[in-house]
Amino acid sequence: MTHESEPLVLGIETSCDETGVGIVRGRELLANELASSVLEHARFGGVVPEVASRAHLEAMVPTVERACAAAGISLKDVDAIAVTAGPGLVGALIVGVASAKALALGLGKPIYGVNHLAAHVMVDELEHGPLPEPVIGLLVSGGHSSLIKVESGAFDSLGHTLDDAAGEAFDKVARLLGLPFPGGPEIDRVAASGDPHAIDFPRALSTDPAHEFNFSFSGLKTAVARWVKEQRDAGNTISVPDVAASVQEAIADVLTAKAVAAAKAHNAPHLVIGGGVAANSRLRALAQERCESAGISLRIPRPGLCTDNGAMVAALGAHVVRRGAMASPLDFPATSTLPIAQVLF
Ligand code: KG4
Ligand code: ZN
Repeated sequence: MTHESEPLVLGIETSCDETGVGIVRGRELLANELASSVLEHARFGGVVPEVASRAHLEAMVPTVERACAAAGISLKDVDAIAVTAGPGLVGALIVGVASAKALALGLGKPIYGVNHLAAHVMVDELEHGPLPEPVIGLLVSGGHSSLIKVESGAFDSLGHTLDDAAGEAFDKVARLLGLPFPGGPEIDRVAASGDPHAIDFPRALSTDPAHEFNFSFSGLKTAVARWVKEQRDAGNTISVPDVAASVQEAIADVLTAKAVAAAKAHNAPHLVIGGGVAANSRLRALAQERCESAGISLRIPRPGLCTDNGAMVAALGAHVVRRGAMASPLDFPATSTLPIAQVLF
């Protein structure tokens, strides 16, 4: 149920290669416009920061205009501006932060510099309503893999990856297999016709009590590289779908096992999954299966809201406004290493 009295928030996202502008009224999504520079990075096999920054600069004004048109509002109707302050690529973040400050100043409206990771969690409110608490969040993106606990609006880190993020593992394995960047969606697509049990790839840190809620994915990438080389050296043909399905299974297995264990250990009967990797079909299915048997309620936004977008920033903005948070000072910095516990500047 949405009321006219709820704040109209415009959110800006520029932490990586997507220029996202979203508009929400409270928990109602009004617009979610995106301009991606992904194709400009594809031939380099990863995001080139300078290229991303320039693309944000070019896309910002038209994307804001498209979002206002889609929402049927004019900029002067906006009650607050929210923007990703970090973590992310610093040059890319600066474009969003500077644009948001200019808008806030020009419109005379408050600005909220918010955390990209917290936004990946709060975006779920646009689809499934208020988040129950305490809730465990599994955040899986190209740059982060973390388990967090959200309670009374506070975001506490329970664990994180010691090396590569899950998305990075997908991207690197895809590259090894000759699939285009970004690799996650490609692996997901190719895996559909493969056997997930064809190759038993390692599940790192699954039995180490000192790392119960931490992850490690760099060994998986090495294991895949070694396996592919061995097969090629032996003159065997490689089934790309079988490798893709087996890697996807290993990643989904570790992520869901640890997320369910965290929910049990912290007496949190709810789990929310966010970030680009949450779009993965096997991760979604396995999480559903394991949550059901553990009696945990599971929330995952639709795939289009899992990957980077402006609506998630607007959703977190509306959340902090609802909680009565003070607006950010106009001199808050773009912070590439912003920790999850700092939801707002
Ligand atoms: O959250 P996100 O859009 O950007 C960051 O904040 O990093 O996540 C991007 C990551 C990439 O590594 C991409 O390969 C991965 O999410 N990804 C997927 C899928 N869709 C995106 N990984 C596995 N399966 C997918 N369907
Ligand atoms: Zn992200």
